[in-house]
Amino acid sequence: MNQLFDIKDRVIVVTGACGVLAGSTAIYLTQQGARVVFLDLNAERLKAAVAQVECGDENILALTCNVLEQETLEDTFKQVMDRFGRVDALINGAGGNMPGATVAPDQTIFDLALDDYRKVVDLNLMGSVLPTITFAQAFAAQQSGCVINFSSMAAGQVITRVPGYSNAKAAIDNFTRWMAVELAHKCGDRVRVNAIAPGFFIGNQNRRLLTNEDGSYTARGQSVIDNTPFARFGKTEEVFGTIHFLLSDAAAFVTGAVIPVDGGFSSFSGV
Ligand SMILES: NC(=O)c1ccc[n+]([C@@H]2O[C@H](COP(=O)([O-])OP(=O)(O)OC[C@H]3O[C@@H](n4cnc5c(N)ncnc54)[C@H](O)[C@@H]3O)[C@@H](O)[C@H]2O)c1
Repeated sequence: MNQLFDIKDRVIVVTGACGVLAGSTAIYLTQQGARVVFLDLNAERLKAAVAQVECGDENILALTCNVLEQETLEDTFKQVMDRFGRVDALINGAGGNMPGATVAPDQTIFDLALDDYRKVVDLNLMGSVLPTITFAQAFAAQQSGCVINFSSMAAGQVITRVPGYSNAKAAIDNFTRWMAVELAHKCGDRVRVNAIAPGFFIGNQNRRLLTNEDGSYTARGQSVIDNTPFARFGKTEEVFGTIHFLLSDAAAFVTGAVIPVDGGFSSFSGV
C-alpha cells in the first residue's frame, strides 16, 4: 500500500457498526489492517457483524454502546484505551430515520409526531456530538486524530417527507466544520474532522421507500434515479475509498470538508 494511504494498525472506532454503510466500512477497515472497535446498540447484530471479520481477534473489539448515553460512552472510551492505549479515528456511523418522524404522502407537517422528530434529531445530531466529544479527548492528548461524520443529501437541498433527519444532517455539516476549526485551534494541525455525504444507497430503512417487492423502483425511487446523473443507486463498497482517504495521511491537509459520494446527485439541478 502506498504509504500515504497506509492505515495499518490505526485504532478506528466505528459507531453504528452493524449498519449497512458503517458496518461494511468497519469490516473493510479490518481488511486494511486497521484495529477496529465495533460499537452498536444491538448486541445480536454486533455478534453477527464481527463473525464476518477474518483478521485475528486481537485486532478488533466489539462493544454494545448507546451513542446517546454519555456515561456509557465514557465507559466505552476507557475500555478502548485499556485495550489499545490510543484512538486514531472515530467514524460516527450511528444514525438514520424512523418511520414515525416521516411525513407520509397523505399527511402534512401538522401531523408530524414531534416525539419521533426529537428522537431522530437526537440520534443524528447528539449521536455524533457525544461520541466526538468523548473520543476527541484522546485526540487532544495525542495531538492527533480524525473524525468522520455521516451527512446526507438531505442536508443541503430539501428531500421531502423526512424533516427531522434532514434538519439534523444539516446540523452535522455545521458541526463538522465547527469541530474542525475548534480542534485545529486547540489541538493543532494533526486533528481533522470531515464528513461524507452519501447519495442514495439501498439500506434497511429506505428499501421499501425506494423499491417495490419485485425490485422495481417506487415513484420516489424513480425520482431519485432521474436526479442522479449516474442513473443508479450507490453500491455499499463505493463509500470505502472516500472514507479510507479521509482516515489516511493522504488527507493530511483536509479538514472541515463534507464530501459527497452521490453519483452526481448534489451537483444536478434536475434540469
Ligand atoms: N444508507 C444510506 O443510503 C445513507 C445515505 C445517506 C446517509 N446515511 C447515513 O450514514 C450513516 C450510516 O448509515 P447505515 O446505512 O450504516 O445505517 P443503518 O441504518 O444501516 O445502521 C445504523 C446502525 O446504527 C445503530 N444504532 C442506532 N441507534 C443507535 C444508538 N443510539 N447507539 C448506537 N448505535 C445505534 C443501529 O443498530 C444500526 O446498526 C447514518 O448516519 C445514515 O443516516 C445513509
